[in-house]
Parts: sequence; structure tokens; C-alpha cells
Amino acid sequence: MDEQTEKIDYSLGYHIFPKKGLLNDPNGLIKFKGFYHVFYQLNPQNTTHENKCWGHAYSVDLIHWQQAEIALFPDKWFDKDGVYSGSAVEYQEKLYVFYTGNVIDAAGINLSYQCMAVSEDGFTFRKIGPIFPHPKGYTRHVRDPKVWYDPEQQGWYLLLGAQTNEKQGEALVYFSKDLIEWEGPRLFLRAGDERILEQNGYMWECPDLLHFEEQDIFIYSPQGIEEGDIHYKNLNQTVYRSGKFENGIFSTDMDMREIDWGFDYYAPQSFKADGRVLSLGWMGSMFPEQETTVPTIEEGWLHMLTIPRELTVKDDHLIQRPVAELQQLRTAETKFNVQNEIFTFPNCRLELLSENYQGFSNFSYCINDNLYFNYDASEKKVQLNRLNWFNGEIEVRELILDEPLYQYQWYLESTSSELFLNEGKHVASARFFPKTSAATITFSSEKINEILIYELAKVM
Ligand code: FRU
Repeated sequence: MDEQTEKIDYSLGYHIFPKKGLLNDPNGLIKFKGFYHVFYQLNPQNTTHENKCWGHAYSVDLIHWQQAEIALFPDKWFDKDGVYSGSAVEYQEKLYVFYTGNVIDAAGINLSYQCMAVSEDGFTFRKIGPIFPHPKGYTRHVRDPKVWYDPEQQGWYLLLGAQTNEKQGEALVYFSKDLIEWEGPRLFLRAGDERILEQNGYMWECPDLLHFEEQDIFIYSPQGIEEGDIHYKNLNQTVYRSGKFENGIFSTDMDMREIDWGFDYYAPQSFKADGRVLSLGWMGSMFPEQETTVPTIEEGWLHMLTIPRELTVKDDHLIQRPVAELQQLRTAETKFNVQNEIFTFPNCRLELLSENYQGFSNFSYCINDNLYFNYDASEKKVQLNRLNWFNGEIEVRELILDEPLYQYQWYLESTSSELFLNEGKHVASARFFPKTSAATITFSSEKINEILIYELAKVM
């Protein structure tokens, strides 16, 4: 068929996406009464950032996702213009969710309320309403509560993204023994850290704290970070710092580091389940001219979530790996020993795996003339480049590794790419929009490479 006239079905087979409307941040991630629940920001009506509800998908195995009814609608005085992002915890066999109610007052000014709702079954909720007053000294950009239980303090912490009246990004922390009475706020980060002030940005969205035995990791999505030579190239980015959380304060002397050096990745959330720390992120956050021209809009939907990732920490590096359950998606497996090759598959639902513990020599991949993954061994430089669907130019993202590239695992599905390097030490995600549903992968390398390619099942 002529490439230009081929009707492409962009729907996804193993990623969470909205059948209709716009999806953004993952919310309320939890394993509760046998189901993994993934709520997410959803405008069910159209593909604009309005009418935010909590959409809902659930699964018993992190792979087969079912869509449930919308869990929370913006229908109360404290959330009438949007049930914004938040999190979930289990307490006394009930599911409690915390979210930000967005309200636009008569003068057109945005107000925000930190709210709670409760559910017995994980599917239907009763809204309880705002849980504490708006903090003094902060604009109405205060949102995205992340709550967790601290066994040492025998109570609950709640972390919020915030903007000071001076338009600085910050995170605030509250504490409660019973999820009802809240003390706070306190400033979450150690005050006076020069490095933090240097690169503050004007607002921090979706803060999250991950607990590991050795250290804690603070993840947040700052807005207004200045673009660097090769970093901070996206509209907004998500970063992390490792450190220690003690008595309600997070201390760190680590510069912030991007979680994902590709495109679009934003606003991830973590949760603990089965002794693991798991996370999903939004793919994603785009410049307006790109967001409004994404080809799936013609099918009435926009954006998707990443695959579930398992998070661990090594030295002060956050390690992200696709959850092991995803291996169940593998159908046909082919091992190639190739130097220059063109692989073709009837669809682009694939996983590529390759390792070479001596370090790879130079190589390059091109997928459907749209997405490029290159490695330059002499500079230890990786690039993920894509064709910008808005203006037809090539957009470049790159990273200089601190060690040779020796392993990668690459999940591809139709219009999404998630690339995990060196056993999850570096990750680059991207949306891309080829003009065909089939996959043509052009590979060339200096030396012969062993590449395993799995075709993956469509399970949704
Ligand atoms: C991040 C974000 C959150 C907010 C939500 C609204 O993408 O802006 O800060 O709660 O999206 O949809």
C-alpha cells in the first residue's frame, strides 16, 4: 500500500492509553485487594487540558489492563475545575486517595485544595473534601500530594509540590497520625543548599520520595529549569536526587539528574508492591505545537503511560528496569548475528535485547525513517533522535556515558519507544509517529552484533 494513504491504527496493545480523550499523569498507584490500580489524569471529553478526572485501569498482573469507570469527576465545590494529581494508600482495609482540587473562582483565579476520598473496593469513592488550609507564603500552585506511611514515626507523611510567593519551586511536607489531623507544612529540603537554589525553577510538580535501605531518592518535575547544552531540552523534565529523609527533612548534596534523557517523559509516580518499588510515568509532556498535532488526535485520543518499571538504587544512581512480568508478552524470538541488516516485521510491537560486556563498537539504528538510536564508542555518546512530526526536522537528545555502553533493552510499540541502557542505569523514552504500522529497522555497525528480537503480544 502507498505509505501516504495507509490508514494507521495507533491504538496500543500493552500500554495504558485512553480510548477517548487526553491522558496525563499516573495517579493513585497501588496494589489493593489483589488488583494493581492505575488511576490517571483524564479529560474524557476531548484532547485538551481541561475537565480533569481520575481515569482508572486495573490489572492482576501488571500486563493485562482493564479500563474501569472514571473514579473521580470534578463535581464538588473544592474540585469543580479539575481533580488534579495525587496518590493512594491503604489504611484499615480501605483505600484513601489524596488529590488536588482545582477551582477557578469568579475572578478567573485558580485555587487549589488538598483533598481526600475513600473507597472500600478500589473502584467507587466517597469524597471527604479538603484536609488542611492553604499554606501561607505560597501561590495557588500547590499540588500533587504524595502520601506514605513511615513505620518509625508511626504516621503518614504527605509531600506537596509548591510555588513560593517569590515564584520559586519548593516541596512541602505534612505529617499525620491518622490521615485526618495534619501538622505542617515544613520545608522538605534542607534549607540553604546553594545548588538547589541555583536550579530551582518556578514550580515543582509531582514530588515523590522513594525509600531504599541505603538511601532515599527524591523525584520531582520542576518547571522553568534553564536549558543546558545537552540536558533539560524538553518542555519540562523530571529529575531526581539521592539523599536521606530523616525527621521530615530530606538532605542531599547531589546535583539533580534527569530521570530520562529522551523526550516527553514526565510526572512519574512510584508505589511499593510485592516487595518492589514500581513506577509508571506519563509519555508525555510536549511543547504545545507538538501536542496539538499528535496524529492520534484524529482517532480522538492523546498520550499514554509508560510500561511499569521496577526501581532500585546502585551507588547514587536510580536504576529503572522493565518489570519482569513484561517477559510474558514475548511471542516469537529470533537471534541475529549481524553487522548491517534491515529487519522487517508486520507491526512495531517489539523488544530488542543486546549485550556485549567488552563494550559495543559504533552502531546505529533507524526505525521507519523516524527514530534513530546511535552509539559512538570513542566518545561513549548515545543519541536518540526523532523526526519532529510538527515541522519535519530532526530533534536530537544525547548523553555521554561514564562507562562504555554494554547492554540495552528496547521496548517499542507503534508510536512509543522506551530504551534502557546498561541494565537500567540510563533510560530514554520517546513518542514518534511513522507513516506506517509495519516496522522497518535498519541496523548498521562496525562489528558483528548479537541482537535478540522478540515480537510482543497485543494483550489489550
Ligand atoms: C503535571 C500536572 C500536575 C497537575 C496535573 C493536572 O503534569 O500539571 O501538577 O496536578 O498535571 O492535570
